[in-house]
Amino acid sequence: MVAADKSLILVIDDDDIVRATSVAILKKGGYQAVDAANVAEGLRVFSRLRPAGVLLDLRLPDGTGIDVLQALQREAPGTPVVVVSGVGTVSEAVEAMRVGATDFIEKPVEADSLLRVLERALRPTLFGPETDRETDGGRFGMVGRSDPMRRIYQLIEMAAPTKCRVLICGESGSGKELIARAIHALSPRRARPFVELNCAAIPSELIESEMFGHLRGAFTGATADRKGRFETAHTGTLFLDELGDMSLSAQAKLLRVLQEGVISPVGSSDTRAVDVRVLAATSKNIPEEIARGAFREDLYHRLNVLTINVPPLRTRRQDVPELAAHFLRLASLENGLPPKRLGPRAADFLGHLPWKGNVRELRNLMERLVVMVPGETVGHREVMEALQMNPAPQGAGDGVPQTATLREARARFERNYIVERLAANEGSLMRTARDLGIERTNLYRKMKQLGIGIASED
Ligand SMILES: Nc1ncnc2c1ncn2[C@@H]1O[C@H](COP(=O)(O)OP(=O)(O)OP(=O)(O)O)[C@@H](O)[C@H]1O
Ligand SMILES: [Mg+2]
Repeated sequence: MVAADKSLILVIDDDDIVRATSVAILKKGGYQAVDAANVAEGLRVFSRLRPAGVLLDLRLPDGTGIDVLQALQREAPGTPVVVVSGVGTVSEAVEAMRVGATDFIEKPVEADSLLRVLERALRPTLFGPETDRETDGGRFGMVGRSDPMRRIYQLIEMAAPTKCRVLICGESGSGKELIARAIHALSPRRARPFVELNCAAIPSELIESEMFGHLRGAFTGATADRKGRFETAHTGTLFLDELGDMSLSAQAKLLRVLQEGVISPVGSSDTRAVDVRVLAATSKNIPEEIARGAFREDLYHRLNVLTINVPPLRTRRQDVPELAAHFLRLASLENGLPPKRLGPRAADFLGHLPWKGNVRELRNLMERLVVMVPGETVGHREVMEALQMNPAPQGAGDGVPQTATLREARARFERNYIVERLAANEGSLMRTARDLGIERTNLYRKMKQLGIGIASED
């Protein structure tokens, strides 16, 4: 295999003029360039010359740019690919980004923008294959190199330089806030404020004042003028967390602000212009909320310019050992304790748990282990013990010592047994339930009762 040549770019386009123009621009910009007119030739040249990057047309005579991207993903994942989209192929370009393109530009290709986009695409990616995340974790503390996580990193990098609104969807504890912070930290607004507003934590009658501020005397308890989060976030980023919990009346107000770019504090008729980039997150399924009449469709479309779906941890199990090691290291550091390692069996075992509480649950477990385990290596047995320490809700009638003891003994046995069967069945609830001769829903309820694989709050 020829070593990657930093300055060689492959142009794949069937339009002779576009191809020749692109090659000329690249050469003027200090790159070397080779070109190909179709999918087959493009892949052949790629394999032979291993260029540092690819400029890719989407509509080709013998296939599509998506075919090329997929082949490159297999052959040389992480290769920067800039997609060139023509009129009417913007949705295809978006699709290409999902499949792994690094960036896209629109035709007609202009020298300045082509070189700028290409330079950005070729910069070592934050989370690219060369980054040593084994020891440090990713930048902004993001860990995981499963395909879904790689896609998320690409979307973060793509969204960050723009002012585009992003809706981040995913189960509780899956990493939505971390993603929002990474987008801000990578954006031109990084030195400006990142302001968070948790829509679920604020009573609906106060949310308007939280967002837009109020004047003294605007309502009972408003004893002084107060700035809202939009104003605090001016020139920066506002992160609307748990968006799905925002009341309909607050949604209407928010929509107006997004449309008009001005806010008006409660109790005032003045308007003030604000320059705020809005990111939002939700663990609810917003289309379902729309169908129930609990969420405004027009607001959804305004906020959902780009969606980042964060898959639950149980669907990207290959990330578990790396995340676990990362959290062990963090927790040891924070507690001033010598670093601990995860034993191979323990790592394997963790990979099979259901992780209802996602990454947060894993983090909490590792924090407990750092404190619990005296030695250097965290073993399989200790992980099981720590899982049993999850606060298990006790039934009513606690406090009768004799029965409590019996119940405790039984619970301990049941926990042990279920955790072992779960591990043996690679975390599959269905197979474990079959093994144990109970219904799946029963098993689930039992696990919840016993605190197996259930998130503890942080
Ligand atoms: N990919 C990751 N790499 C490293 N740490 C992560 C990752 N994903 C999540 N975490 C950590 O897991 C915890 C939960 O993440 P976060 O708060 O971002 O989740 P969330 O989706 O916002 O959860 P919730 O819906 O409960 O608010 C945090 O401590 C976060 O730092
Ligand atoms: Mg959150």
